[in-house]
Amino acid sequence: MPAPIAKPIPENIKAAANVLRAGGMVAMPTETVYGLACDASNPAAVARLFNAKGRPAFNPLIAHINGPDMGMKEAKFSDIAGETANQFWPGPLTLVLPLAFTHSVCDLARSGLGTVGLRYPSHQVAIDLITAFGGPLVAPSANPSGKMSPTRARHIREEMGDKVDLILDGGACEHGVESTIISFTGKDPALLRAGALAAEDIEEFLGETLTRPRLDPNAPTSPGQMLRHYAPNAALRLNAYRPEEGEAWLGFGPKMYGTGLNLSPSGDLVEAAARLFAALRALDDRYDKIAVAPIPMEGLGEAINDRLERAANS
Ligand code: TXA
Ligand code: MG
Repeated sequence: MPAPIAKPIPENIKAAANVLRAGGMVAMPTETVYGLACDASNPAAVARLFNAKGRPAFNPLIAHINGPDMGMKEAKFSDIAGETANQFWPGPLTLVLPLAFTHSVCDLARSGLGTVGLRYPSHQVAIDLITAFGGPLVAPSANPSGKMSPTRARHIREEMGDKVDLILDGGACEHGVESTIISFTGKDPALLRAGALAAEDIEEFLGETLTRPRLDPNAPTSPGQMLRHYAPNAALRLNAYRPEEGEAWLGFGPKMYGTGLNLSPSGDLVEAAARLFAALRALDDRYDKIAVAPIPMEGLGEAINDRLERAANS
């Protein structure tokens, strides 16, 4: 049964917030495109979201907030970042900022980065949903990976109707393209993605040209190097059949050896994705060497292996 399309009346917003509290997924209208929203603080919900999107890797997600109070709990705003937020929020602009100590957006949603992408959307239904829920919602565009971003409720019902729990109908999206992404985490403000807010408007406001690390083919750093993900200090040995002397075991499936943790004793890839970052951190704190069980290359296994390979080679 495809998910119901609900009018954004107060009782449906309340029901949608309850779906989110239970770890479910709600398609949420924004002024750019529809987003597939879930509780940003719940790694199990975020893992199901990645699974529903069919993403081959855990890209960091944008956390949607309902104003400066929530924003300042999640990220540190420099003067210039704060002024930019004042000028362009709410609206189609995402700011990548250093994480605040009080943050709630989970590791998996940030892909282990020490930064967070924040957006305060202007669509009233999105604001109402975030407010009813009471915390940040991560929301990638509500399309399967590789498909076009949806701008109407029925697009989602057609392409992802069996994956989401509820679709809130906010009509056609005003912009139809994703938000512009600016990073305030480096020396200079950088344009990470061109989008619905013209970069020129931001440059005019800032009185300086944005660097374009992702867009400039001559830039020395490749996009992959731009994102500094969490890298454990411990040495990781992947696709291990069993731990060797001095290695902790990060298991998947029923086999468990000596000391270590298990991503999913039942071999469930969504459960494994939800536990991945917490398990890596916990083992990294206590051991110098970690042997990791083979993770099958299907479903979320591809993204888990991608993340483990980066951690092993860092
Ligand atoms: O308009 C939009 O931004 C829509 C609506 C639903 O809000 N959302 C959207 O999300 O386009 P998504 O997941 O399709 O794109 C998120 C982008 C990714 O390219 C990701 O790399 C970047 O945001 N991003 C998020 N957090 C980041 C971070 N901490 N550092 C660098 N890039 C980040
Ligand atoms: Mg997208």
